[in-house]
Amino acid sequence: MIYRLAVFGNPIAHSRSPEIHEKFAEQHCFEINYDRILVPVKNFDTYASEFLESGGKGFNITAPFKHDAFRFSAIRSKSAELAQAVNTVSIREGVIYGDNTDGVGLRQDMIINLGWTIEGKKILMLGAGGAASGVVGDLLAANPKSFHILNRTLSKAKIIVDLHQDYRLRAIAIPDTNYDIIINATSAAFKGEKLDLPPSVFSKKSCCYDLTYGKEANRTPFLMRSKEFGVASVADGFGMLVEQAAQAFEIWFGINVLTGPVIASFRETNVFS
Ligand code: ATR
Repeated sequence: MIYRLAVFGNPIAHSRSPEIHEKFAEQHCFEINYDRILVPVKNFDTYASEFLESGGKGFNITAPFKHDAFRFSAIRSKSAELAQAVNTVSIREGVIYGDNTDGVGLRQDMIINLGWTIEGKKILMLGAGGAASGVVGDLLAANPKSFHILNRTLSKAKIIVDLHQDYRLRAIAIPDTNYDIIINATSAAFKGEKLDLPPSVFSKKSCCYDLTYGKEANRTPFLMRSKEFGVASVADGFGMLVEQAAQAFEIWFGINVLTGPVIASFRETNVFS
């Protein structure tokens, strides 16, 4: 049996998910048929229903459909509820489940792959859009000392804070301290825009993570700028991409995969642009 899976998005041609999941399946000696599906913006429900009705085992969702997938799912995980977004849909006994594996993926990459400590640390998140809100809950679950969200539009950061009701989480307009972990969750680089970075947030001990990634490892504009402040460590979001995929694979098949070799093989061949 060849399992049918897919990733839904618009645009979607850039997605590396098919190759990542094929490598996971290879580790367990079975085959999958994982497609990229370009969904017209208003047609998510039709495409999603047809895919599942025609035997699809599940699918991933990328921009701009994570909210549609949230609405589409009959039962949602806690991570999905906190993110108000779903990136992994599965179907079991006719019931549609929605999960969000982005936050756990980020946490795994930071703690396991990069060896960073989140517990007891001060986190600063730059940005308060979909990418940011998708990971806040799972980072809070790793017990940071504090978690501040700095966004150009303060009201959007406040919406995330109100949703979580956690004393460690605050929306800030002006930073007045430095941070152990600084995460870029803005879309500034996608749009070729400059991101204003207050120098006071960086210290020599800061670890800087960019949720995005580019052709070359750890060379996003945010990480290049962070390095100028002499920070301790930088990482782009490619590890998170593989880790969130591993979580999705586990949801569909109930089996663990090794992510390290998959991350390394993409890095070596540089095919993750
Ligand atoms: P995504 O799903 O990628 O998170 P989004 O929901 O549009 O996309 O959110 C983009 C985030 O990047 C927002 O927090 C946005 O700030 P605003 O809420 O003020 O719009 C932030 N952002 C985008 N361009 C930026 C820039 N040039 N400087 C600072 N923040 C920027």
